[in-house]
Amino acid sequence: MVDLHCHILPGLDDGPKTLKESLAMCRAAAADGIHTIVATPHRGNFVADTTAKQVLAGIKKLKKALTKHKIKIDILPGHEIHISKDLVQDVEKGVALTINNKKKYILLELPFHSVPFYVFDVIARLKEKGITPIIAHPERNTQIQADKRVMKRLVKAGASAQITGDSLTGKFGPAARRSAANLLKSGLASIIASDSHSPARPPALSEAITEATKIVGEKKTRALVESNAAEIIKEE
Ligand SMILES: [Fe+2]
Repeated sequence: MVDLHCHILPGLDDGPKTLKESLAMCRAAAADGIHTIVATPHRGNFVADTTAKQVLAGIKKLKKALTKHKIKIDILPGHEIHISKDLVQDVEKGVALTINNKKKYILLELPFHSVPFYVFDVIARLKEKGITPIIAHPERNTQIQADKRVMKRLVKAGASAQITGDSLTGKFGPAARRSAANLLKSGLASIIASDSHSPARPPALSEAITEATKIVGEKKTRALVESNAAEIIKEE
């Protein structure tokens, strides 16, 4: 499996504090059947504003440690980019990292309690450049929870959706769980990822897979953690 949204790099945001914690997370991921993690530190929100340089240096260091400790996980570059009006320029300049640096997909974070109207303009401008925004955990956004039409409009505009595994298992409460199930049922989500931040909230997807399988069946669930994600990270 691929984990497309994970705060795996140490000391950059509200993810692991030390390399030791990052390695513990990678071990947990490998034990759960994950072979590739996209490192997605926060960019442009109050938690952190990591630079591309910091992300790339962090990956280099972590990969070296993974080889040393014989942990079979590949780490790819990315960012969880908070919505802003400058986002498109930042992505074009490479200041904000696209997933696996391919300039095809970004992981886009919205505020938790609203969907700013200018998101449609940002989506349109990204699509013009051939970039698809994947909205991080829309099921946790209270406006999307309250109105099913919002996510439909975002997908119609060209965005994709990433559901967080812990929403499906109920760890973020009943509203997020209900919304995640609705997004799956209506075919609006294309990815399930961990959004893991620490060894206490490890990058494991098995429990979420069990829950998703009950909702959309095994075949669709596997696509959400394997083939859809593989397509997003693929080399040309
Ligand atoms: Fe995140």
